[in-house]
Amino acid sequence: MIVVIDFGSQYNQLIARRVRDYKVYCQIEPPDIDIERLKTLNPQGIILSGGPSSIYEKNSPRTTEEIFSLGVPVLGICYGMQFMVHALGGGVAKAEKREYGYAQLKVEQPGELFNEVPGTTPCWMSHGDSITALPDGFSPRAATDNTPYAAVADPKRRFYGLQFHPEVEHTPKGKQILKNFLFDICGCKPNWTMKAFAKEVIAEIRETVGNKSVILGLSGGVDSSVTALLIHKAIGKQLTCIFVDNGLLRLNEGARMKKLFKQHLKMNIRYVNATDQFLNPLAGVIDPEKKRKIIGKVFMDVFEAEAKTITDADFLAQGTLYPDIIESQSAFGGPTSIIKSHHNVGGLPKKMKLKLIEPLKFLFKDEVRKLGLAIGLPEDLVWRQPFPGPGLAIRVIGEITKKRLSVLRKVDAILIEEIRAAGYYKKVWQSFAVLLPIKSVGVMGDKRTYENIIALRAVTSKDAMTADWAKLPHKLLGRISNRIINEVNGVNRVVYDISSKPPSTIEWE
Ligand code: XMP
Repeated sequence: MIVVIDFGSQYNQLIARRVRDYKVYCQIEPPDIDIERLKTLNPQGIILSGGPSSIYEKNSPRTTEEIFSLGVPVLGICYGMQFMVHALGGGVAKAEKREYGYAQLKVEQPGELFNEVPGTTPCWMSHGDSITALPDGFSPRAATDNTPYAAVADPKRRFYGLQFHPEVEHTPKGKQILKNFLFDICGCKPNWTMKAFAKEVIAEIRETVGNKSVILGLSGGVDSSVTALLIHKAIGKQLTCIFVDNGLLRLNEGARMKKLFKQHLKMNIRYVNATDQFLNPLAGVIDPEKKRKIIGKVFMDVFEAEAKTITDADFLAQGTLYPDIIESQSAFGGPTSIIKSHHNVGGLPKKMKLKLIEPLKFLFKDEVRKLGLAIGLPEDLVWRQPFPGPGLAIRVIGEITKKRLSVLRKVDAILIEEIRAAGYYKKVWQSFAVLLPIKSVGVMGDKRTYENIIALRAVTSKDAMTADWAKLPHKLLGRISNRIINEVNGVNRVVYDISSKPPSTIEWE
């Protein structure tokens, strides 16, 4: 494995991704990692990430200098390189000319790190400080117009430093440089595959759980489904999944889940129909945040009541992903706001004295998808678009009634069917319909109608933090609109949302 020490760079997840793309396991650790823990991890190489600080700032992040005595190769990137040079007795100072963005890298003394990298190649810089003097044993390897020490190396001790960012797309040969570090310098083997990972995790779960029981809240999304199947493969019927039908799900969602998990995968599923428990307190509520609060609270109550009936449950399993973990531990505290809390049964483990199992906590979303496929989940489940915990409640704008939910459900089913058929389901981040709280006049069969309006929303995005409206073909939009108005009673107008995030959000509420 490779350990990335996180000095707060916005790119450190990208470094981990790149390493894993080469089938080498990689883990991000905070700078204050205990040296004994680092030794137990037994990394084959250490990457010191970049970061926004200057090494001379009082509170700039540091890691133990003992990492330089482990005999393990170290690659410092940007601030990580400056930290290494400074720690080993070299000099770092404010650069005369700060360098941001594109620069031409001239490789003067290639060495193993620059195998198969041309003599001149573009690189991407972002720094205010620069190296002024190298520690003993180091020599310069590459330069840019403004930076004589754009790459440095002490091949004897296997220490390398890059002032530029090899992990970003704007450094086209960056992947090759990282590859050289992993395989030619650290001697890693590309054997970290999802199949191997699944095998390891399943064995681990079996050992942790022993003969005890595990409960899990199954939502129908990718993360909880993959978590459930992994644990099921490890301990079979010792796992009980609780699927709460809150009455706010998509058409046939409950039946589909039962069919797959209960009948097909033979898992132990408790299906709790709690429609009225959710819809009663939601009656007349139109404020979106109030809706979320009510749904979150009822979910906890329903889940807890069901969980209590499962005797000798010792563990609660959750589909927490790696970005959530990194964000909460990052050197500079990440944007925790993207972690949604309503579906988080976070209070439960303490209250019920449950221990947590989070088998996906080292994976990124696309890795979870690969893992899901590797353990046999069907492709259409693995590639589901995100669906918000409060479900259709925040897509029925205004008052939530069974009737309005039923209208939206039919519309949503048509939309998804058409988007899939046109090959856009995987191309967009999310595509859904919103039922508006206003009516408009129409004419159907020579008769005046006064009915509901549906807004269609489809966005492209990488992480839901920003999004753009999807440029769906007009023909497709026309077909969807036609079908909705013809097939769903109570709708006489369809509009398409052409706002991006920011300043709008993806959901309407
Ligand atoms: P917004 O609307 O904030 O949505 O641009 C960003 C992403 O989060 C989803 N979303 C939610 N997910 N509970 C959830 O589990 C919520 O309350 C919630 N609100 C929004 C939304 O679908 C999008 O993917």
